[in-house]
Amino acid sequence: MSSVVVAVDGTSGSGKSSTCRAVADRLGLRYLDTGAQYRAMTWWMLAHDIDVHDAAGVAAAAATPVIESGTDPLGPTITVDGTDVSVEIRSDAVNAAVSPVSTVPEVRSRLVALQRELIGAGRIVVEGRDIGSVVWPEAAVKIYLTADPSARAARRALENGADDAERIAATEASLLARDEIDSGRAVAPLTMADGAAHIDSTHRTLDEVVDLVVGLVMETA
Ligand code: DC
Repeated sequence: MSSVVVAVDGTSGSGKSSTCRAVADRLGLRYLDTGAQYRAMTWWMLAHDIDVHDAAGVAAAAATPVIESGTDPLGPTITVDGTDVSVEIRSDAVNAAVSPVSTVPEVRSRLVALQRELIGAGRIVVEGRDIGSVVWPEAAVKIYLTADPSARAARRALENGADDAERIAATEASLLARDEIDSGRAVAPLTMADGAAHIDSTHRTLDEVVDLVVGLVMETA
């Protein structure tokens, strides 16, 4: 396990973050949330009044913000130009803008370079959409984590402290809209990487999914 890299890709709200953090904690590994980096880039674009649907404008600005990720699974951090944006990146405004920003190749190449720097030191669990397929295809363990849309929406709404039917329906619509852009984009679309193990978390508890992933890491790495 000396330099193990665990790549966990999957749809929005499939339980990637909770799973990855628990797996990293159990195995004494670091944790990287690449979605948080795309969200931080998006937050910065919104804060600087850049039209997120203007791909050329987003591309031109993509090199400017300094994005740093802390990799402690018990307290991951994300800063932009030195400011902690952990809370701000979960806003509805960022939820709505992050997929279009993530389709811009200059954004992706910038963040993939950052990710490879962090992953290069090894001993890390990395979550995203393209980790096993593009960022680190040589990962010792690759997981593709999914769940039914209604289960994902109910969990995400609960996390946000809003579990009424209207809010769950709105959350499901927003998750599905992001899935569609994430899966359909030209560069690094969400896809199951070669050699990945598919885990459907719809009818599994978090502990069950964590046990499965830890088992795969122990077997493989
Ligand atoms: O995992 P998340 O929901 O926080 O990700 C937010 C968005 O970032 C998601 O809609 C797609 C994008 N993303 C990406 O394109 N590639 C990654 N490796 C991670 C996230």
